Amino acid sequence: MAGKKRLSELSERLSEPSERLGGHSERLSEVGASVTESGLNLPGADTVLVCASGDLADGGDGIRFDFERDDKIVPAFAIRHGGRVYAYLNRCAHIAMELDWKPGKFFDAEGEYLICSTHGALYAPESGACRGGPCRGAALSRLNVLEAGGKVYIRKG
Ligand code: FES
Repeated sequence: MAGKKRLSELSERLSEPSERLGGHSERLSEVGASVTESGLNLPGADTVLVCASGDLADGGDGIRFDFERDDKIVPAFAIRHGGRVYAYLNRCAHIAMELDWKPGKFFDAEGEYLICSTHGALYAPESGACRGGPCRGAALSRLNVLEAGGKVYIRKG
């Protein structure tokens, strides 16, 4: 009986509107899911595996990967900042050059900004917005990240 009650409680909780689930996002991420404004997100056919969560240290080296956009394969990268994973096309907003001065080196010396190795443009890691240098008013092209079950995925498209 106790098992039956528990199952029904769980079912009730899973059918709650996404706004109410928002407060439980930390717990859900522990069991391998994440919550966004659009509701419960899980990896599926529309996602591509990039790396293990543990491969990305906060403010540390990024992971380079190829991404398909508009029928072209383009370079991209993922980094971790403030505990969250962000991903962008690896293309400076000043001139279409890759940012990293050595493979995976996207952060400045303080681990505060993403920096372009060519002319020193600085980008906010959490948004890709230019914060200094010749990229003023522009931004990196951001990709949609999903971190679930100890893995980092990118949504296609
Ligand atoms: S190419 Fe990146 S700052 Fe100029």
